[in-house]
Amino acid sequence: MPIFLFFFLNIALVTSSHLEPGFYLNTCPEAESIVRDVMKKALNQEPRSLASVMRFQFHDCFVNGCDASMLLDDTPNMLGEKLALSNINSLRSYEVIDDVKEALEKVCPGVVSCADIIIMASRDAVALTGGPDWEVRLGRLDSLIASQEDSNDIMPSPRSNATSLINLFHKYNLSVKDLVALSGSHSLGQGRCFSIMFRLYNQSGTGLPDPEINQIYREQLNKVCPHEVDQNVTVDLDATPLIFDNQYFKDLVAGRGFLNSDQTLYTFPETRELVRLYSRDQDEFFNAFVEGMLKMGDLQSDQPGEVRRNCRVSNACPANNLLFGFE
Ligand code: HEM
Repeated sequence: MPIFLFFFLNIALVTSSHLEPGFYLNTCPEAESIVRDVMKKALNQEPRSLASVMRFQFHDCFVNGCDASMLLDDTPNMLGEKLALSNINSLRSYEVIDDVKEALEKVCPGVVSCADIIIMASRDAVALTGGPDWEVRLGRLDSLIASQEDSNDIMPSPRSNATSLINLFHKYNLSVKDLVALSGSHSLGQGRCFSIMFRLYNQSGTGLPDPEINQIYREQLNKVCPHEVDQNVTVDLDATPLIFDNQYFKDLVAGRGFLNSDQTLYTFPETRELVRLYSRDQDEFFNAFVEGMLKMGDLQSDQPGEVRRNCRVSNACPANNLLFGFE
């Protein structure tokens, strides 16, 4: 291995393994307030975009660590994660991250990684919509590549049951409690009819709806998502989709969970009591949620990284050089 490459790999690995609060205090002291300001603007422009950005943390950190790989656009040589099964026609509001990055690059160019932006912006989305606020650990690097295949293999389907979700989270050292609390992120945002058509009309190949859905709720869903619907039509994930609260858990107890992967948390004995607890005690939910977000945010990539100048393109990619008039 050439000596420069050896050094590059080592530096990248060492840097990426050390996360700490206030990482940018010396190099970009305004970083956290800049991110929050852009998120406030996004909230005013399109309230749902906060939910969409918050979801990025899950889709980023589960696929080879929190390294902003899901923000990379496809290139002629690389199929990125944006068109992966769970992301295509679904992940949105990438432009909010672009706005954050642009604002940061103006003040401290080349310093704040896109991976850290996702972590700060997700926290801000929760804090700005009525949820808890917390200190995040920073110092991540951005990946050089993305993997559509890995995203397809890893990200869970909305059809998942509690057992398969528990097993998936377990692989990341995330507990049953983390799973239930983090699913409470569905307190914000919307999902597409596409994600529940099987639940409404053909659960597990029975030709019947999921019996766990509250009947009145099912009739409402049938109206919004009839058989021939454009499956990109969206439905709120809980009764208060712009407020981060424990309504999601109250809805699950009432059989009004939108996704199969939501309602299953109330159907299965391993997760049911936690759903009940969080439906009654919002503080318990908030504390567990923060703990889960911090643990999920600690998932690391073991690959070399960089601080991208443009979150959509790795620095070595010619498209990036063109975009920024690189020497
Ligand atoms: C437990 C496993 C999970 C599954 C199976 C799952 C699946 C889904 C699905 C299918 C949607 C709707 C997508 C669509 O129809 O276009 C969705 C939306 C969402 N998910 Fe999850 N999710 C899970 C966990 C998480 C976690 C851990 C977070 C964040 C911490 C998260 C945050 C969100 C948010 C905020 C939305 C709404 C996004 C918007 O309105 O644009 N999800 N999720």
